[in-house]
Formats: sequence, structure tokens, C-alpha cells
Amino acid sequence: MNKNTSEQNQNVLSLLLKEIHTPIDIAMREDISASLEGCDPDLIEIINYALFGGGKKVRPVLVAACSRLCGRDDISLYRLASAFEYLHVASLVHDDIIDNASKRRGRLSLAAKYGQEKAILAGDWLLSRSMFIIAELTGPPGLSIFCKATEGMVNGEFLQNRYVRDISLHEENYFKIIECKTGNLIASACQVGALYAGADKQQLANIGLYGQCLGSAFQIIDDILDYQGEEKNTGKTVGNDLVEGKITLPLLRALQKSSENERLEVERLIRHERELPQTYQKIFTFINTYQGFESAGTTANELIERAKNSLSLFDPAQHAEQLSILLGLADYILARNK
Ligand code: IPE
Ligand code: IPE
Ligand code: MG
Ligand code: MG
Repeated sequence: MNKNTSEQNQNVLSLLLKEIHTPIDIAMREDISASLEGCDPDLIEIINYALFGGGKKVRPVLVAACSRLCGRDDISLYRLASAFEYLHVASLVHDDIIDNASKRRGRLSLAAKYGQEKAILAGDWLLSRSMFIIAELTGPPGLSIFCKATEGMVNGEFLQNRYVRDISLHEENYFKIIECKTGNLIASACQVGALYAGADKQQLANIGLYGQCLGSAFQIIDDILDYQGEEKNTGKTVGNDLVEGKITLPLLRALQKSSENERLEVERLIRHERELPQTYQKIFTFINTYQGFESAGTTANELIERAKNSLSLFDPAQHAEQLSILLGLADYILARNK
């Protein structure tokens, strides 16, 4: 794609991202005020805190754009899209407990603000509510896609846990982890949107592949930003993956080029000194020296290209606007700094 087309895609996308925040917010507010009526005030407060504190809304945008691509756009689409924000936020709330993360979206994580007990319960509430909406609007076929993705995400977290602090992690397993924990959920947002619009089997498969590749690229960029990002943009504590002993693609790529002695030193640092600020500096320099960030970025780029190619099934003349949104979203995910 030439630079102009890519810039055009980005412009269309930033408009859509802005445009969609309001209807999604309205759909969520309507839904939670109805469903939380008469509930404990603490639960009401915590769910409001969880849902209305920013976030890029990538998953709801994908639901809406994939449904529109397949020919359906109505008011309930925003309700369907918001279910994926609920699921995503539920996964973040639980993820921050698992990762000991006290910052999210530029403020205290739910667990840091309200304690783990309430955060776990709020995550459960959001997960349950999202399933209710998916079932209501897409029936068993949508629920099946949604549940498989959620089950896959949990499996991905288990797999990640298996290789924590283990620099012998094979790339193949790193990709499996990110496909499960992030790719599945993003793919399911795309597929449920398409299903809602009555997409056929082939369309569902291609849109699923688009989402899966996009999701894996999304996680690689997230892993790069965990080293190279700025807290004021990401809203999260930079360097947390290292402290938590997560071995991600930039480090794996650097390790592939380093000497045996350097490898042993990295292993020692990760096993015994990963919480020291100077360790972050040492590992950052190590990754930089062996172009680990560039190499991981190249892989994310390849996945983005695969994602875009899987949309070639759709006639560009007939679906120009929706395609440019989905292509723009792919470019945005690669170029993002937050
Ligand atoms: C963070 O997702 C979790 C990952 C899967 C990497 P986002 O970066 O989409 O988080 P928000 O919704 O914008 O806060
Ligand atoms: C996100 O992975 C995975 C899920 C939300 C299931 P990360 O742990 O990298 O996400 P962040 O960096 O905390 O947002
Ligand atoms: Mg995390
Ligand atoms: Mg991360």
C-alpha cells in the first residue's frame, strides 16, 4: 500500500474511533444502569470505574466495522460491540491481578484501587454480562465463538505461566501464547460482528484470520511498548513484563543472536535480579544491541500484511469505506504508541 492510501486509512480510522466512543459509551451506560439497578453501591461504583476510564476501544470498533463490512448496521450493533469491551475489561481486571500491575489506563488498576476481592468479582460480573448480551443478540453460534475465545485466553495465560522466567522458551510457544491470550479475543470480536450481519462461512473464516493476525501483531507491539513505550502514553508501568519474568519477542530475538556467555548473564539477571532498575537498563541495552525491537517490529508488520491480505475476499469497489477502516485499523495497530 502506498503512503497516501495508508494516511487516508489512518484519517478514516481516527474519525471512526472518535465517532464510535460516544455510541459505545451510551450503550454501556444504558445497559449497566438497567442491569445494576438495585445492586450494591460498591458494585455499581466499581463497574463504572472499570468501564469509563479511557481505553482505545479497538475491540468494539472491530465488531462494528466487521458487521458493517458484511452488510448490517443498526442500533443494537453498539450493544453487541460493547459486550466485547466488557469482556476485554474483565480480562484486563483479572490480568492486572495476575501481573501485579497497579496502573491501567493512566490510573490505579481496579485491584489497586478497590482490592483484589472486589476486582475479581467485578471481572466476573463483566464476563457474565458480556455473555448475556452475546447470547441475546447472536444466539448459540455467537456464544460458541465467544466462549471458545475466552477459554483459549485462559489457556494462553496458563501457557505463559509455564514459561515464566524461562529464557529457553521457543518462539513457537511465544506465538502460541499471544495467539491464545490476545489473538483469540480479537478474532472473536471480528467474527461475532460478521456473524451478526449474516456472513457466510468463507467470509467468517477470512475475517477470523484477519482478527487472529491483527491480534498477534497487537500483542507483539504491546510487548515492544512494555520496553520502549512511555507511561504517559501507554497508561501502564513500563518494564512490568521483565519484572514479572515474561519472556517476549524482542528479548527472544536478541537472545538468538547473542553469545553463550551473554545468554547465561541474561538468564541470571532474569532469575535473580529482574526487579532492579539497573536490570531493566541492561536488558534494554542488550535487546537494542541485537536489534531485538526492530526484528519483533518486522514480524508484527508481516502479521499486519497477512491480516490485510485476508480481506482481499471482499470486493474493494463494493466495500470501499468499511475496508479502508479495517485496513486503517491494521496500520494503526502497527504504528501505535499507546
Ligand atoms: C491491552 O489492550 C491488553 C492487551 C491485549 C495487550 P489494549 O491496549 O487494547 O487496552 P485499552 O483497552 O486500550 O486500555
Ligand atoms: C494481555 O497481556 C493479556 C490479556 C489481557 C488476557 P498483557 O499482560 O501484556 O497486557 P497488559 O500489558 O497488561 O495490558
Ligand atoms: Mg498484563
Ligand atoms: Mg503487556
